[in-house]
Amino acid sequence: MLTGENVILTLKVAVAAVTVLLAASLVALARGRVRLHGRINLAFFILTLAAVLGLEVVIRFIEPEVFDYIRGKPDLARNLRIHLCFSIPSLLLMPAMLYTGLKRHRTIHLTLACFFGVAWVGMFITGIFFL
Ligand code: HEM
Repeated sequence: MLTGENVILTLKVAVAAVTVLLAASLVALARGRVRLHGRINLAFFILTLAAVLGLEVVIRFIEPEVFDYIRGKPDLARNLRIHLCFSIPSLLLMPAMLYTGLKRHRTIHLTLACFFGVAWVGMFITGIFFL
């Protein structure tokens, strides 16, 4: 059934799955497999984008009232706002990560990786444990 709880649960599974990919890409990097790091992260990018677009289609077009129940739960509403403070920056940084990686702009890629890492960890913790 298309309930808010089920949408959130589905997203948690999706976030856990793509985080495994991201972690694998970092293991590849640590082993010097730079190209593999890039290939895994291309998949990571496409899958994450697909999950976000899927969410947007559900909450904007298919079932716009699906998250209305959150308004009646102030704690959950606050946690969602905090979660968005991490998830939106991490989403915005992703195309820049892909571009700078592909173009081998190493310094910029590594600098952005620091911000992206903080945003992704924050998004993961607030999303998986507090929603
Ligand atoms: C979060 C931590 C990350 C770190 C520390 C990291 C680090 C690196 C480093 C050191 C390189 C090699 C750059 C060079 O030698 O010029 C690289 C390449 C690359 N990275 Fe990342 N990266 C991270 C995340 C990402 C993400 C999230 C993406 C995509 C969404 C990405 C996509 C790429 C691509 C496409 C390459 C080029 C691979 C190739 O040459 O075939 N990286 N990364």
